[in-house]
Amino acid sequence: MSTFPGHLDVKAIRADFPALARIVRNGNPLVYLDSGATSQKPVQVLDAERSFYELHNSAAHRGTHLLGEEATDVYEGARAKVAAFIGADVGEVVFTKNATEAINLVAYAMSNATVTAGSERFRILPGDEILITEMEHHANLVPWQQLCERIGVTSDGRLDLDHLDSMITGRTKLVALTHQSNVTGTIPPVTEIARAAHEKGALVLADAAQSVPHQPVDVAALGVDFLAFSGHKMLGPYGIGVLFGRADLLEAMPPFLTGGSMIEVVRMEGSTFLPPPQRFEPGVPAVAEAAGLAAAVDYLSGLGMSNVAAHEESLTAHALDVLREINGVRILGPDTTKDRGGAVAFDVEGVHPHDVGQVLDELGVAVRTGHHCAWPLHRALGVQASTRATFYVYNTHAEVDALADGIRYAQRFFGARQ
Ligand SMILES: Cc1ncc(COP(=O)(O)O)c(C=O)c1O
Repeated sequence: MSTFPGHLDVKAIRADFPALARIVRNGNPLVYLDSGATSQKPVQVLDAERSFYELHNSAAHRGTHLLGEEATDVYEGARAKVAAFIGADVGEVVFTKNATEAINLVAYAMSNATVTAGSERFRILPGDEILITEMEHHANLVPWQQLCERIGVTSDGRLDLDHLDSMITGRTKLVALTHQSNVTGTIPPVTEIARAAHEKGALVLADAAQSVPHQPVDVAALGVDFLAFSGHKMLGPYGIGVLFGRADLLEAMPPFLTGGSMIEVVRMEGSTFLPPPQRFEPGVPAVAEAAGLAAAVDYLSGLGMSNVAAHEESLTAHALDVLREINGVRILGPDTTKDRGGAVAFDVEGVHPHDVGQVLDELGVAVRTGHHCAWPLHRALGVQASTRATFYVYNTHAEVDALADGIRYAQRFFGARQ
């Protein structure tokens, strides 16, 4: 079995990520299998942020001086790159702090539309429904919770869509669902669900925090109205995320946060607001972070998102194979790579996930343990918590093998069934 599966030059990629060269606990090399929480950052992203601060640092959309112009160009250039990356128009990309804020932006705009005149499309009235799924990350669950009906999950961790037609009703305002589960890796049929929702007049928001970093995503092909993701999970910096919104919807949507840089005219009697995307970006924007995100988009585009997806599919297939061979390990979610991304959560019989994680950490293998901000999904799958490995462009088959060896070691250490 080759250490570097064929689709990407992983050896060259790894050289771009200084953190991957670290020796961690007990003299072990770092095996980083937690990119689902946050990815490592290549030097190209670090350089882009540093160069912005060194040369162009200034408030975008404010100064009339040269540096102000340059900062605006960097910021708007990043927006154009992100738009092209997901097949959107440039005015449809709103920068936010992260995916969580992007989703809250829509939820709060809907709640604001309820109390302001002129935004009928977004107004929530008694009896209206927001439909979410049991598979959601808390970021796409808690904001909608007050008004939701839930789509359940099958025992193999896929969405239970048998009664989709009756779940989406004439009162459903919005269907909010994940485009790739951060626990089971499941990729639901978003296009099909969007079609069903639109037939009933409902809007669709996809949480793409785990899909945009890992597979080609085209918002038009998906047919969604809103799509949210974070920069830090796709090789980019913290503090910047994206809300894609269909142009006509953003145009009709009231603001979420208000203040400077998003207003048209301010009088003591009241204010009017700029068109999107500026309407949704109050305050001095995160330009260095946008520069870093643009560099991350360049990096991923250079690799080719189809190659990224193929590489991760190869790692996931290998992980499913090796985990399946370990007695006492139950994979949560689909156990083939069909409609499935590279988040592999599992339960080790007789060993608490935190203990699994701690033993793996002693061996240099970094995974996530707990409920991964998806408590209802864990309940549906019959566990309180799990251990999760997530893969990215820099991971190798040998690292998947290190995970399997570590799990066996943990089983021996805790005297669990093997
Ligand atoms: C599926 C999913 N949605 C949303 C989020 C929230 O992302 P952030 O914390 O960057 O806002 C995450 C983060 O783990 C996620 O995995």
